[in-house]
Amino acid sequence: MRNLLIVTGALTGALLMASLAFAQAPAGQSGGNSLFQQNCAFCHGRDAGGGEEGPDLTRSKLVAEDVGGDKIGPVVLNGRQEKGMPRFKLGDQEIKDLAAYIHAQKTLAESQKGGRRGVEVADLQTGNADAGRRYFNGVGKCSSCHSPTGDLAGVASRLEGLKLEQRLLYPRGSLASIVVTLPSGEKLTGKLAYQDEFTIGMHDSHGWYHSWPVSAVKFAIDSPVDAHADMLAKYTDDDIHNLMAYLQTLR
Ligand code: HEC
Ligand code: HEC
Repeated sequence: MRNLLIVTGALTGALLMASLAFAQAPAGQSGGNSLFQQNCAFCHGRDAGGGEEGPDLTRSKLVAEDVGGDKIGPVVLNGRQEKGMPRFKLGDQEIKDLAAYIHAQKTLAESQKGGRRGVEVADLQTGNADAGRRYFNGVGKCSSCHSPTGDLAGVASRLEGLKLEQRLLYPRGSLASIVVTLPSGEKLTGKLAYQDEFTIGMHDSHGWYHSWPVSAVKFAIDSPVDAHADMLAKYTDDDIHNLMAYLQTLR
């Protein structure tokens, strides 16, 4: 009996390896796949085909012109924050892997029109609220900045379902502060108002808007919500489902 089990185990193992090897070709894509699912799928859809919060990347002109991440990389690293695209701290290889995954999805979408799916509402209903509360007060360290009876009281009434999940993953609200150092050495302090690959913009303490080409000035951005982006890498799907179940009890 035991021998039989081992044999079946080995067989399943071999089959699994075979199908994994198939799924991984060409190189670079599997790392890109998990990076994409973890960081991008929520907005752009699991297959990059677009979601509620982000455009279809398989039809993007920018993606069509991209070679090995040279166009996608700057968008990912700088974000387009005022349009809802956050920025990500990722390395060269991660950008290349992400780009490889997006290009593969583009090829796939072009060969088989339709059949896309975005973030699923079912994702929101599978968690365990008790586990979520323990995570909130424990390893998640959420309670170091938030309180269920303070700032998050009633959060589930204010933000429903996917909106709440989006805020959890990518909070908005508190503006990042920025210090810009001009070529003259003069420093300007204010709130970040605009940022893309080429331009940086801010409102100074009097409310005036200023902007510069990114190459013309030095700047440092301090954004408290970046803590959320940093936590993204640590969440498992289960953590998110459990947290969502817990947060949805805060009505
Ligand atoms: C919170 C939602 C959100 C997340 C998460 C997100 N994006 Fe975006 N992304 C957007 C939005 C919204 C835009 C459109 C911005 C605009 O209109 O210029 C965008 C634009 C882009 C573009 C430019 C498309 C074009 O045609 O100009 C690329 C490339 C892109 N995202 C890649 C990514 C990648 C890769 C990730 C993960 C590392 C990611 N995005 C994560 C929301 C998101
Ligand atoms: C380092 C501090 C910090 C930590 C740790 C932190 N957050 Fe936040 N969180 C913020 C900030 C800042 C905002 C932006 C909202 C604001 O400005 O009021 C925010 C926003 C949110 C929002 C959106 C609230 C709304 O009304 O839009 C949710 C939900 C949330 N956090 C949940 C969590 C959870 C769950 C955890 C733990 C996994 C967590 N946060 C950990 C600082 C933190």
